[in-house]
Formats: sequence, structure tokens, C-alpha cells
Amino acid sequence: MQDLYIQAEAFISSMQQFEGRPSNSDKWKQRLNSIKQSIEETGTYTHTSEELSFGAKLAWRNSNRCIGRHFWRQLDVFDCRTLHTKESILEALKNHVALSYNKGAIKSAVTIFAPKDNTPGTPDPIRILNHQLIRYAGFKNDNGKILGDPHSLSFTQELEKHGWQPSKKTSFTPMPWLIQINGETQEPYTVFEEHPHLLTEVQIEHPENEAFKSLELKWYSTPILSDMALLIGGIHYPCAPFNGWYMGTEIGARNLADENRYDYLPQIAEIFQLDTKNNRTLWRDRALIELNRAVLYSFDRDNVKIGDHHALTRQFEKFCENETKSKCPVTGDWSWLVPPISASQTPTFSQEFDPTVVQHTNFFYQNSPLEAKSKGESPMGKCPYHID
Ligand code: ARG
Repeated sequence: MQDLYIQAEAFISSMQQFEGRPSNSDKWKQRLNSIKQSIEETGTYTHTSEELSFGAKLAWRNSNRCIGRHFWRQLDVFDCRTLHTKESILEALKNHVALSYNKGAIKSAVTIFAPKDNTPGTPDPIRILNHQLIRYAGFKNDNGKILGDPHSLSFTQELEKHGWQPSKKTSFTPMPWLIQINGETQEPYTVFEEHPHLLTEVQIEHPENEAFKSLELKWYSTPILSDMALLIGGIHYPCAPFNGWYMGTEIGARNLADENRYDYLPQIAEIFQLDTKNNRTLWRDRALIELNRAVLYSFDRDNVKIGDHHALTRQFEKFCENETKSKCPVTGDWSWLVPPISASQTPTFSQEFDPTVVQHTNFFYQNSPLEAKSKGESPMGKCPYHID
């Protein structure tokens, strides 16, 4: 309890600092008193809608691994704390998908559902078991090969265990939603079959190489993370799906390129007729660059907002400088802020970051209710980005 008050106080004082209204400090004193009283009487407290909205923005600002945080004040916050029925929850999620896409002019948004009840043994009111609201399935073929996204392999199996029968298995089959309400897993909801217009994708082609099209690559428009917890002033929201827009390298240098993901570089090299027999021809590097060009080119062609690592890292550097000047220094995780290609060509590479993870208000990894084992512990100790 004491701990919750300390976190609430830290949050309220950050809010006060950013809103910069010292003359109004009675307001804050009163608010802290009422929070203290509420925690004493009920074990918890309830955010006002301003606190919820500011808190979600601050949690984004505090997300050490995010390179897009300079936009933290521009976040649409949907307050869905009072929704408890399956229908209303699905409706809110569909709204999030449509509103954040915004016809390609993607808007950052978060939808916040009911907070956790801290009474031991109480299941979370709502949990989304999908990692992202839009994500492609991964199927293991009889020959042991994987069709689709290997990252989704175990979750796809889970969906099938819960009754999902995909009408088609392709490299890019969108997964249905699996949600839990008060610990009860609901039937998978095949949202993109019911509402195909919610599935917005970009077909990837290369600006010069015609043959690139034959690979039939595509990716979805909006990354909407749905399995992380949002903490605001110590209050834990286990279901708070949020999105920004993509930085090209996430798709071009990781999702479609990693050997343990879609692993397309060998095929791209073939299309560009690169010599793949010898690593020192740098065929991987060359294929990687062409794939990243294709991703940026194709999103631009379709007017779907996407950032590139040169612009985003420069904007982020400027943001860090300004925040340091205003005495609100930014914390960060170098290994995530440096892009996976051309690192040394971006300012983040030579920047130093304070790796402290602000604990009272932030986004955290949390264990999936599907897995009993904690992922937050490792031989290296407890992961500071993990909540349980
Ligand atoms: N890296 C993840 C993906 O490729 C998305 C993480 C969030 N990214 C973002 N731009 N907001 O799907």
C-alpha cells in the first residue's frame, strides 16, 4: 500500500512538473491527500480522465526502447475502463484498429481497459493474448518447415487448440483475437474475416527491380502492441493496446529479414543476382538495403505513414537535447535505439543514454496467462522491463 502511494506521488509530481503550474499547487496537494485517503480505505485509487490521459503519454515518454517518443504528447487515449462485456470490448478494439489507421495517416493511440484488482488470486479483468492486434500466423508443415511468421508459431497452436480453423493457410494469414475476461478464455474471434476492411496491408515492391514483385511480400500497416501492461502512478492496467507507426527497418531489417523470422534475404539476393556463395560479397547487406528501400517506397506509394531510421534518430537526438535543457532528461536503451542497419550513420550510435527504467509510469512486459512460467527472471537477474 505504502508502495502504491509512493508511486502515485511520483506520478502526480511528474504531472505537476510537465504541466508547470506551481501557482496551482494546492490542487496537487489536495489530489495527493485524496489519493492517500482512497488507498487507506480501499487499497487503491482511481485516475481522473486527465490523469489517465497524461499518464499514458508519460508512460510512452518513459519507454526506453522507443525511438519515436518525441511525439509523446500526440497520443489519442481511449478510456475504456468501464467496459466488461465481450461485445463492448471487441467493439473498442475494432475502433482502435480503424481510428489509428486513419486512412493511412496513422495516429498514435492507446485504449485503456479496467485496472487490475490487487486482491491475490483475482484474475485480470481483461487480457488480450495476441502479441499485436494485427499479426500473421505461423504454421508448421508436415516437412517441419514453417509457413508464415515463425514468431507466431506457439500462439497459432494455441489458437487452434481453442478451435480456430483457418480457412486458408498462407504466408500472411492474419490471426483472430483471443481474449480473456476475468480469467475465462473466449472463443477466437476471426475479426478480419468478419471485417476485411480492418486489415490494411501494403504490398511490397521495389522502385526499380520489377522482378521483386514476384516474391509477393507484404506487411500490415499498423503495429498495435496488445500484450504489454501499462502502469500509471502504480496502477496496473493489464490490457492497454497501443500503437505508433512503423519505422521501415522493423519490417525490412527484422520481420522479413531475420533468419528466425521470414528469412527472405536469400531470395532477394537471387532476384538481384548477387553471389551468395561467399559472405564477403556482402550479399546479405546488399539484399537488406534493397528490401528496406522496397518497404519505404511501397508504404510511401500507398500513403501509409512510415518513418525511416535517418529521420527518426535525428529527431530523437534533437528531442533528447531539448529535454536535457529543460531539466527533464530522457532515459534510454542504446541497444534498441540504434537501428538494425547503418547504425554508425545515425546519431544514436554515438549518443549515451541513462538506462534507468522509470518504474511508476511506463509500459512493461507481463507474463502471458497461457504460460505458467515467469519470463521476467533470468540468470542475469530480474528484467527491469518486466512487471511480474
Ligand atoms: N517491432 C514490432 C514489429 O515489427 C513493433 C513494435 C512497435 N513499433 C512501433 N513502430 N511502434 O511489429
